[in-house]
Amino acid sequence: MQKLKGQRALVTGASSGIGKAIALELGRNGADVVVNYRSGDDVANAVAEEIRAGGVRAYAHRADVSQEADVVPMFQRISAEFGGIDILVNNAGLQKDAEFHDMTIDQWNTVIGVNLTGQFLCAREAIRCFRRQGIRPEVSRALGKIVCISSVHEVIPWAGHVNYAASKGGVMLMMKSIAQEYAPMRIRVNSICPGAIRTPINQGAWETEETYNALMRLVPYKRIGEPDDISKAAVWLASDDSDYVTGASIFVDGGMLLYPGFENGG
Ligand SMILES: NC(=O)c1ccc[n+]([C@@H]2O[C@H](COP(=O)([O-])OP(=O)(O)OC[C@H]3O[C@@H](n4cnc5c(N)ncnc54)[C@H](OP(=O)(O)O)[C@@H]3O)[C@@H](O)[C@H]2O)c1
Repeated sequence: MQKLKGQRALVTGASSGIGKAIALELGRNGADVVVNYRSGDDVANAVAEEIRAGGVRAYAHRADVSQEADVVPMFQRISAEFGGIDILVNNAGLQKDAEFHDMTIDQWNTVIGVNLTGQFLCAREAIRCFRRQGIRPEVSRALGKIVCISSVHEVIPWAGHVNYAASKGGVMLMMKSIAQEYAPMRIRVNSICPGAIRTPINQGAWETEETYNALMRLVPYKRIGEPDDISKAAVWLASDDSDYVTGASIFVDGGMLLYPGFENGG
């Protein structure tokens, strides 16, 4: 069953990892999909082509989500090509790690700019589009849905990654505040908080047996997450199956939040 048939979605950072898996899964569930990316035209176009092969509309759109001058035209194009937008997945993100005393202002600004300001800019444009559109009860009970890809680090402090943890902590209260402000208009806003997922962003943490085993000490479920663990949750949050869910952080983390240091009694 195609749960998202007739809906129009934008996934930011959809040329790789979690964003790519979400874009493909939205398409498999019947949504038309815009594949946003920042670099690598060929990879992004291949994702869009794979989605189109399933019989829905899709195109790749290059834009840096941290730049207002890129984000506003990206939403104008969706309105022009698809006639509107029903689902935003705020996924684009990166890390610029450093010990805190060595962290440069550039490392700080880049991570906050993409991970937090980028989510603000895209969410604001999506809300503006939703408000201009009427509700379409034949496709969804909600006027619009926003799914923010946050992290377990919206609550777990992370030494050596202060800029990243600060950006995801910011996403948490931004998401909840937008959810509160727009729930009366039937706009739902939620986050998925992944634990360790096998993507290029954290390759060092899973590519050798030694680092993988070290990572598993943090994961009670004793396996790394795969991008599709996140894409299934994203489709649920974008669909009417979760119509009474808004302002929620859904942790998809194999139990990483369960204080794994205590799993043998502490
Ligand atoms: N993997 C994990 O374990 C994990 C855990 C928790 C949270 N997350 C979150 O999940 C999201 C996706 O991460 P991932 O693991 O899938 O990493 P990834 O494979 O590195 O993918 C990140 C994507 O974001 C894009 N991107 C980066 N900066 C951008 C910008 N300014 N504008 C538009 N797109 C931009 C990248 O494009 P380019 O390649 O062109 O830069 C890439 O397509 C991030 O928000 C990350 O914080 C991941």
